Amino acid sequence: MKVLLTGATGYIGSAVSEHLAAAGHRVVALIRGAEPRPGRGWHAQVVGDTADPASLAGAVTPEIDAVIHLAPPSGDVDVDTAVVDALATPLRGTGRPFVYTSGVWVLGATGEAQEVGEETPTDPIDIVGYRPRIEERVLAEVAEGVRAVVVRPGIVYGRGGGIPALLVDRARRQGVPEYYGDEDVRWPTVHVDDLAELFVAAVERAEAGTVWHGVGESAVAVRDLARAAGRAAGVLAAPQVVTVEQAAEVFGPLFADALALDQSVSGAAARAVLGWQPSGPGAVAELAWGSYRPVEVFGAPDGTDAEAEVTAIRRLVAEVEHAQQNELVDRFLSVFRREDPVWTTGHGKRLSGFEEIAAFTRKVLPGAMTESTAVYDVERVLFLRPDVAAVNVRQQPVRQDGTRITDRPEGRPFYILVKEDGTWRVGAAQNTVVAG
Ligand SMILES: NC(=O)c1ccc[n+]([C@@H]2O[C@H](COP(=O)([O-])OP(=O)(O)OC[C@H]3O[C@@H](n4cnc5c(N)ncnc54)[C@H](OP(=O)(O)O)[C@@H]3O)[C@@H](O)[C@H]2O)c1
Repeated sequence: MKVLLTGATGYIGSAVSEHLAAAGHRVVALIRGAEPRPGRGWHAQVVGDTADPASLAGAVTPEIDAVIHLAPPSGDVDVDTAVVDALATPLRGTGRPFVYTSGVWVLGATGEAQEVGEETPTDPIDIVGYRPRIEERVLAEVAEGVRAVVVRPGIVYGRGGGIPALLVDRARRQGVPEYYGDEDVRWPTVHVDDLAELFVAAVERAEAGTVWHGVGESAVAVRDLARAAGRAAGVLAAPQVVTVEQAAEVFGPLFADALALDQSVSGAAARAVLGWQPSGPGAVAELAWGSYRPVEVFGAPDGTDAEAEVTAIRRLVAEVEHAQQNELVDRFLSVFRREDPVWTTGHGKRLSGFEEIAAFTRKVLPGAMTESTAVYDVERVLFLRPDVAAVNVRQQPVRQDGTRITDRPEGRPFYILVKEDGTWRVGAAQNTVVAG
């Protein structure tokens, strides 16, 4: 399909462009400003401004098979209604899809109810006050022969962006991770690449008049997201709750209310009906170990997806941490290659070969984490060859609640990783305590 995409340069739109192209569609990006813009996965671009609905008049040509409207609302209900008119009217009587992007904030606080579905009446918070009216306007196009569909994403994360990036930034600036409202606030979340797949599914096969929640995890405790954001920012302190009033001074009252909104929203319908299969890492894992933490990368091999390799390496190191923290001997051992691995511990004990490493781990790991444990963060990856990487890691001692133990030294593990049969494993490892 030839798909006109508004908001194509944005956080979600960039991912949607790539996934549409990967699925064989041709993306026509609607951009504002006359200068051509670079965009991965774009087939063509047209100029238009959603603040000026008249500028959209010629955007939906007869060759456009579908429209995905991702550009954010203007703040003026009449303007946004006119944008829908301009984009949907040329599709009338054709049965072509028009996918409108709303958001789960139109549902308001979901209270005690578990996993609210698409049938739940809207009760928008002020920041999205008139958005349900735009949804209705979009869905009214069904009567005019448009395959009108609404997607409501949860809080989008991944690729180091979205609202979670703000949590990381605040933790870095304040020196303590923050979350808003009260202790028990939960956000429905979705990985940006999973969400992009939902847009592909919606444009390809959602029935006219349907609404879909783009939600991978229905209710993630924001306190946990804040702790993980602190981790990404290198701030190992207990998260602090910030009142809505305090948050309003920083973000303004409307966004502060949104940050403090407690929701539990189901994305089950899209899975069951559209066959949507979200597969990205969870929001907490992505924040703590994924794209929100900068890694220096050297010697990235040509022709390979270096980002994917670094992600796989980060996951391996996250596995080291998880196995160690939870005293999981077999999982810890699974990170080593079988053939002649070597591990020199932080105390200078050299273990040669898998059996020696296994015997030592079985002896020391069980019971070792009762009072303290450690977190491991990848800081530098040097690809010596496409399948061999030298990895510098920072190891920090923490209490069981994740807060830093300040009177204990850090470690600087160094791993030589080898990729065999598509999986990175530790070939050699050495830890060194940072003295002084
Ligand atoms: N991020 C989330 O967690 C989330 C959750 C639920 C719903 N949503 C909704 O998803 C949509 C996209 O969000 P996002 O996070 O991807 O936003 P974003 O990163 O801010 O991107 C906004 C996109 O819209 C374009 N745009 C803005 N004003 C425009 C105008 N007047 N005319 C034409 N294009 C314009 C921007 O183009 P420029 O490059 O020219 O600025 C950019 O491509 C929004 O409707 C948002 O409300 C987002």
